[in-house]
Amino acid sequence: MRWCNRCARLNDLEAMKQHLSFWPISGLLALWFLASCSPEPLLQGSLDGLVPAPKSLEKASGSWVCWGQVSLVWPETWSNEGAVVASWFEAAGIEPVDKPDPDVRFELESSISGKEAYHLQISPSGVVIQASTEAGLFRGWMTLRKMCPVACETGCASGFSIPSCSVQDAPDLEHRGLLLDGCRHFQDVDFVLKQIDNLALHGMNVLHWHLTEDQGWRIDVPALPALAQIGAWRTEADGTRHGGVYSASDIHKVVSYAAARHIEVIPEIEMPGHSSAALAAYPELGCSGDSVEVPNRWGVFKDIYCAGNEDTFEFLETVLEEVVRLFPGPRIHIGGDEAPKVRWSQCPKCQKRMQEEGLANEEELQRWFIGRMGAHLATKGKTIIGWDEILEGGLPEGAAVQSWRGMGGAAEAVHLGADVIVSPTSHCYLDYPLRSTDMEEAYGFEPVPDSLARGPGRILGGEGNMWTEHAPQERVESKIYPRLTALAEVFWSGRGFTGRPGAYADFLRRLDHHYNRLDALGVAYGLESPPFGLTTSADDQGGLLATVNVKGRGVRCRGEWTGNGQSVMADVPVSVKGPGALRLEVGRRGTWTGQEEVVPLDGHDAVFRDVELAYTPSPWYTGGGETALVDGRLGTADFRDGTWQARQGGDMRITVDLGAASNIASLETGSYLYQDAWIFLPDTVVWEGSMDGVQWNVLASASTARVLDRDDRQQRATIQGEWTTEGRRARYVRMTAKNPGPCPDWHAASGSASWLFLDECVIRTLDSP
Ligand code: ACM
Ligand code: ZN
Repeated sequence: MRWCNRCARLNDLEAMKQHLSFWPISGLLALWFLASCSPEPLLQGSLDGLVPAPKSLEKASGSWVCWGQVSLVWPETWSNEGAVVASWFEAAGIEPVDKPDPDVRFELESSISGKEAYHLQISPSGVVIQASTEAGLFRGWMTLRKMCPVACETGCASGFSIPSCSVQDAPDLEHRGLLLDGCRHFQDVDFVLKQIDNLALHGMNVLHWHLTEDQGWRIDVPALPALAQIGAWRTEADGTRHGGVYSASDIHKVVSYAAARHIEVIPEIEMPGHSSAALAAYPELGCSGDSVEVPNRWGVFKDIYCAGNEDTFEFLETVLEEVVRLFPGPRIHIGGDEAPKVRWSQCPKCQKRMQEEGLANEEELQRWFIGRMGAHLATKGKTIIGWDEILEGGLPEGAAVQSWRGMGGAAEAVHLGADVIVSPTSHCYLDYPLRSTDMEEAYGFEPVPDSLARGPGRILGGEGNMWTEHAPQERVESKIYPRLTALAEVFWSGRGFTGRPGAYADFLRRLDHHYNRLDALGVAYGLESPPFGLTTSADDQGGLLATVNVKGRGVRCRGEWTGNGQSVMADVPVSVKGPGALRLEVGRRGTWTGQEEVVPLDGHDAVFRDVELAYTPSPWYTGGGETALVDGRLGTADFRDGTWQARQGGDMRITVDLGAASNIASLETGSYLYQDAWIFLPDTVVWEGSMDGVQWNVLASASTARVLDRDDRQQRATIQGEWTTEGRRARYVRMTAKNPGPCPDWHAASGSASWLFLDECVIRTLDSP
């Protein structure tokens, strides 16, 4: 029998029922008492919003009721974690009390096997969580928390109930992580702490903290002050400064906050590449010794630590001494990815090192470099992890491998007997746009394919990778979530669970409940998939019609065509004349998000006319097929947006049949420039006209200025034809964009075939209505 905490009236439904059956009048009176003393209805928890799903959950009858007070008990060794739990109840407005028979008991129980396994029992008499480890108890707590009403995340002082149940649970994979790149964009400490909370909520146990990069050094090393003074700051193209550095006390705060939530923080200190920020601070550590700026552009840089210079190793050992001091975990990530060897191949010191150490090539020099640092860290009791490039010159002894360029590195490392973490670009790159990897694709990830399940090495687990080139702090959560909820379930519940028929629909049902908790916690999650699709077609008069359709679950659309301000709704074709854009706002879960999608279009006079291509477009960049250059869709500043058509190593020529002789008013195309990705503007574009498709004469041409070394623009360029003739009448128009030839001498890929990208062959005529 229970009494209301507020007014000391009888407040137990079971007892009330007995009153009702045996003594109807008193029972009714008591019910009135019960109703009058409960100012708010009792909040009900749920078993339906558990993400990731537990291994087994059995429902039982009855429920545990928390009447606004709670007594908690935990083992002595669990005081840090216990404080986390107690402060959650306190923030919810639940009063802590001492009782001889506590409501929620956390108990170490050695018979439960598994490092993070736990049992959770909820019954009318209370809650018991048992595990053989402190970590297991904490994972059990997170499941209990997710059964509590969402309202408790902001306050449920009047109490709540949770249905009785029994859970037996354990993670499928032992390493369940998120890589957070704090370098491309700096995040403040509170944000990092929030991400740790988010990880804990999803049963994750690793924060892989990427702390050094070309574009910024983020860990203060007092013995090397220029790292914080110079390496931590870059000047953006617009002259503003971006940067920041974590002090020892910041790092201590993050590491201890994570420890109380059983999350290992693995620092990543990149070597030998991705080191421009360090070289900006200490240029003598590069092969040439030349001064280097902290770059403000993305990509891979040739200047890396000199492997022949002993000062490099003294520097890195000083850095690692501080890293070892601040990060108590057993593992340190040393990067190893994307280290161009061009400087090493030209450096007398590096070449001398190769001779002395009997190394056949620069890849072996990298293995020697990583091996030397690994051996150094082994003397400090640490093991190393490196990206899959560390396999290239032979696996450095004792290193674990993180496979990112597909699963090939994982396969090789498993066969070599290494521990492996998987985070392939195909499923785990949370910085990629949703059209590359949507949530359903992430959910379909198979981290341990059958072929790699039986050693000699072992796949420890996986990570979602959040690189932040294009994500300042305020965008980061919208990139991580909700896709990481899917990966969390893959890593925790296992492929046996996520791979069964109907699993994804079941996940979505639970996620819909879980979203309410993320809302309450202020997690700024983004979309699950691209929100809208667009089709274009020709209308009866040969004009352009554009129709937006909603693709995302629970998504709505509103917007306008900027050409004439006409409003746009899903599934209603809009007539598009001339250039402009559809500006579309995304609605989701009942609210307009303010998130805008901008779709540039051009309703010109060649849309959906017959065309002939004199080339085969790259299968990766078809732009939608044969009609890509007359579909009215212009490319955006993202060359992977699906509208661009491209060819590597050759010209692009298209012939358009306007259907009748026409007076041409203007000729234009859009091309793309992104040298770092081998994409160059055409040397020239020539437009020819013909009345019969046999005899051609040049109508107009354009030539582009040769792009210069270190031109890092990534953008669409409009190329306008300049008239070369007075005769502007033609039925057929032939446009030829000339490939500028192989990547030039100064380019990292000098001699390789360059790419040409086009989005549209825009023709305007004087005859158009
Ligand atoms: C990586 O994405 N360069 C590991
Ligand atoms: Zn060198």
